[in-house]
Amino acid sequence: MLTKNAPDLRYSDVTPERLYLRRREFMKMASSAALVATGGLGGFACRAEAQSGQKLEGVRKTSFAVDEALTPFKDITTYNNFYEFGSQKEDPSHNAGSLKPRPWTIKVDGAVAKPGQFEVDEFIKPHALEERIYRLRCVEAWSMVIPWVGIPLGDVIKRFEPTSKARYVEFTTLFSPSQMPGQRYEILPWPYLEGLRLDEAMHPLAILAVGLYGQALPNQDGAPIRLVVPWKYGFKSIKSIVRIRFVEKQPMNTWQVMTPSEYGFYSNVNPEVDHPRWTQATERRIGEFRRRKTLMFNGYADQVASLYAGMDLRKNY
Ligand code: MTE
Repeated sequence: MLTKNAPDLRYSDVTPERLYLRRREFMKMASSAALVATGGLGGFACRAEAQSGQKLEGVRKTSFAVDEALTPFKDITTYNNFYEFGSQKEDPSHNAGSLKPRPWTIKVDGAVAKPGQFEVDEFIKPHALEERIYRLRCVEAWSMVIPWVGIPLGDVIKRFEPTSKARYVEFTTLFSPSQMPGQRYEILPWPYLEGLRLDEAMHPLAILAVGLYGQALPNQDGAPIRLVVPWKYGFKSIKSIVRIRFVEKQPMNTWQVMTPSEYGFYSNVNPEVDHPRWTQATERRIGEFRRRKTLMFNGYADQVASLYAGMDLRKNY
């Protein structure tokens, strides 16, 4: 086992080898697509920004707010993980302009009394928009503080009346290779999937985010609607959701399918359980020089630790 404590992990350190090799394929595709689309180099840049920026009205401040310096908007929107648009941090901000966040339909199905299909704005409308200032801790050991705008996931779930068979919730990202150029290649098994236990999904900290910094979500951050579960590693916070399904059995999530020995279902932030290839004890806050100590459950232990009472967190990683 190789445990790294370097100030920065290289891309090849955090990425399984077969994915690292596929990136070369993707890079070739992305550069030729950009040439075709624009007749020149760099044509994808800035298009994603054009769609964001719409101010969200009536956002309520809440006490769900960490008292730490906010990560600048520019970093939150240019240092991203969104493999549907490429696997380097700057790729999503360059390539996500092809995503069309409206019109957008969300399907709710499985073990619920009131399933249905909803246009995204209708889906959001019954809920007041709240600001939630949360830490986001990526499994790659960097972190940010993000002022999300969102709606409590638990309130959304109650509307659909889960039945006694609903023990887990599965979330699915859009599959549309024409809008998401990375999906033309098998970088990951598409569409991206995630899951939560029903009681985790009902926890008041879990939200569906529709914006950040008071504006509609930029495409690269998961427009028009994404999950945010602040006590778990960032990969649980699935972007651009089109389906919410209630199921009896624990669903598989994309990174678990990809590398089960490295990424599990729970993925709670835990400084005591290292990733097989690097330490999780510390993290680099984007914009800071000195590494910080990573906090148990990303600093939300007093609120969420009881969800895992009696569980071996080394086994359930
Ligand atoms: N959702 C989808 N559909 N595809 C992805 O590649 N990356 C995840 C998560 N959600 C990802 C995703 C990872 S690894 C992280 S750390 C966060 O999104 C990053 O969110 P951000 O780019 O808004 O900071």
